[in-house]
Amino acid sequence: MKSYEKLLLENKAWAAEKISGNPEFFNRLSHVQTPEFLWIGCSDSRVPANEITNTQPGEIFVHRNIANMVVHTDVNLLSVLDYAVNHLKVKHIIVCGHYGCGGIKASMTSNDYQAVLNMWLRNIKDVYRHNREELDGIEDTDKRADRLSELNVMEQVVRLSQTTIVQNAWLHRNEPHLHGWIYGLKDGLITPLIELKAGSKIDPLYRYDNII
Ligand code: CO
Repeated sequence: MKSYEKLLLENKAWAAEKISGNPEFFNRLSHVQTPEFLWIGCSDSRVPANEITNTQPGEIFVHRNIANMVVHTDVNLLSVLDYAVNHLKVKHIIVCGHYGCGGIKASMTSNDYQAVLNMWLRNIKDVYRHNREELDGIEDTDKRADRLSELNVMEQVVRLSQTTIVQNAWLHRNEPHLHGWIYGLKDGLITPLIELKAGSKIDPLYRYDNII
């Protein structure tokens, strides 16, 4: 059997198991999705949102990219954010990074990953540059990368708060609350790093006073 054929076979077994536990499982899901959470995570195959939070289909709206970045010119991220905030009306947005992140490690090297990846990784390099003093002071490379992972998560949460989409929602419905978490590959545990409740103070440089 080809490796991908196993996926299709497992899918049949999974669907059968879900129906045996609850005959209405797919019926209910096919009509409506009302997730309370938007998850912005790393594409890393070891950090699947539903699995590590023990949630079911329908519970989390998910966007994943390399190193869980919030890039203000990324139409994909912005579309997901807009839909989650303005249509699904999620209550919480979680940016979840992870220790041992390959994207974070790559951004700390001087290696040429070619134009496209270099462009993406430069966004992480910017986070390093903003925290250069602290990070340069950490001798161990892995520990420095793990700290950059944490600082990166916190920066992405702040970037979310800078968007018109989030500021608009904060003004009109006092939601969503923003959370920055980090996941440990070695112990499977998530540690919260930052929380920006709706209405949190925003640097005036990024705050829009005349939001409609
Ligand atoms: Co990663």
